[in-house]
Amino acid sequence: MLSIKNISKSFTQRGMVLNNLSLHVNEGDTIAIMGPSGSGKTTLMNIIGLLDKPDTGEILFKEASIANFSEDESAAYRNMNIGFVFQEHLLLPYLTVSDNIFLPLLASRHTQTELSVKEQHIKALMEKTGIADLKGKYPYQISGGEAQRVALVRALANNPSILLADEPTGSLDARNAENMGNLLLEMNKQFGITIILATHSKDLADKMARVLHLGEGKLI
Ligand SMILES: Nc1ncnc2c1ncn2[C@@H]1O[C@H](COP(=O)(O)OP(=O)(O)OP(=O)(O)O)[C@@H](O)[C@H]1O
Ligand SMILES: [Mg+2]
Repeated sequence: MLSIKNISKSFTQRGMVLNNLSLHVNEGDTIAIMGPSGSGKTTLMNIIGLLDKPDTGEILFKEASIANFSEDESAAYRNMNIGFVFQEHLLLPYLTVSDNIFLPLLASRHTQTELSVKEQHIKALMEKTGIADLKGKYPYQISGGEAQRVALVRALANNPSILLADEPTGSLDARNAENMGNLLLEMNKQFGITIILATHSKDLADKMARVLHLGEGKLI
């Protein structure tokens, strides 16, 4: 479904971060990327999500080349296909939980029927993740673990085929981290969503079907 072929990426100050790296992702995969701080995990996730571009190399999504997409094409690709969860969940403080979740839907046009299908999907996700009762609350009124689940539901609201999660349990205690890991797996099973996550947590990584290590610019 996603094929990353021989990508390299350098930053002026740092030199080469990704060095001729390749990764093939099948639909429904669950992949953990581990590696020391500064090894390039976030850089790789940003490239997969088209938030950043490789210097060289090719990215194929469903057989189509996407590495040279324009800004607009990249935004459309993200909107249709990618859900992001970041370590800092970045909920907007002045919007309720519900409005935070529905925000990404506003970015794409929907018919009334599509909208009500999505609403049902989101309602099911909120129930599944145990945040249905938090609908009207503001981010400052909920816990870190709850906020991370809100961020997960928001990432899944548009029914993406790939979920990119960068340290999704980084700010959570052991119990919440365990719950988040299980929830990710459940989303994979129930909705067939492909998961690629970056983490320092071996416990979280070991829940995924494939664990890859990033070092010296390559995945092994
Ligand atoms: N936009 C940028 N400009 C310059 N250097 C950058 C940029 N983004 C990342 N880097 C550098 O590239 C290297 C890889 O960074 P990256 O954030 O991908 O690492 P990481 O594996 O995600 O680390 P961590 O585990 O700490 O999150 C680091 O040395 C970082 O300083
Ligand atoms: Mg990082």
